[in-house]
Amino acid sequence: MSESVAARLQGTGANALELDGVARHFGALVALTGISMRIAAGERRAVLGSNGAGKTTLFNAITGDFMPTAGRIKFFGEDITDLPPHERIRRGLRRTYQISQLFKGLSVLDSIFLACRGVSRRRFSLLRPAVTDVSMAQAESILNAVHLEGDRDTLVATLSHGQQRQLEIALALAGAPRFILFDEPAAGLSPTERRDLVAILNALPKHIGYIIIEHDLDVALRVSDYVSMMHNGRLFKEGTPREIEADPQVQEIYLGGRHG
Ligand SMILES: Nc1ncnc2c1ncn2[C@@H]1O[C@H](COP(=O)(O)OP(=O)(O)OP(=O)(O)O)[C@@H](O)[C@H]1O
Ligand SMILES: [Mg+2]
Repeated sequence: MSESVAARLQGTGANALELDGVARHFGALVALTGISMRIAAGERRAVLGSNGAGKTTLFNAITGDFMPTAGRIKFFGEDITDLPPHERIRRGLRRTYQISQLFKGLSVLDSIFLACRGVSRRRFSLLRPAVTDVSMAQAESILNAVHLEGDRDTLVATLSHGQQRQLEIALALAGAPRFILFDEPAAGLSPTERRDLVAILNALPKHIGYIIIEHDLDVALRVSDYVSMMHNGRLFKEGTPREIEADPQVQEIYLGGRHG
């Protein structure tokens, strides 16, 4: 076990996220139960699990889109369990959605610029011209970070599926995020687009931690420091990418029908 993993299990060091006994019920349905996890600042975590395992529900609990029915959540040491979603965003928490939430009628650069300005406006409302400059500079740098510099003026509606997923990552990067939840950003991507996604994620500034929900084991293992596996609303296995890859149960689930 590596030092960083040992430190995390003992709960030492700065944690971006701490979940204790988080649960979410929908009527009689237990979508999530007994979720306790610690994610260190800057850590990249992959969450794997079958359809309906509770992965998106976990994200909704962390963002506050659906409040947990039990348990506590801390973000950089602060208890955010009862905060509404916008207060969590203000503290640097971001997410992308499994189903695209883009404004199709805007250009790529305008989408990113508006996201940057939206996050910064409240704090700097008296300095509007300066804010516009800062937001535009930030938008340009995000455009490069997600490999969309060649499509700055392209209408969102005419982007390929893969480019739209890259734009979703761009919007999550607006306004100095500290932690991002990516809900299946590789879904529907071609092998080339997947490689591009892996490169984009691995090149993000090191202080930005994330959780990525991912069905493709290859992608998950290449973009994460640590892996959590979910089934029926529970965590059932955790380990480093190497441990997970070597795990017989994981091999049976993910690699059973694969060639080579
Ligand atoms: N708003 C809701 N109302 C009722 N049940 C819900 C709601 N959201 C999720 N569920 C249920 O909770 C369980 C977990 O769903 P969730 O969307 O978290 O799974 P998931 O792991 O993200 O699956 P997938 O891989 O298909 O995205 C499922 O049984 C689902 O039907
Ligand atoms: Mg989901």
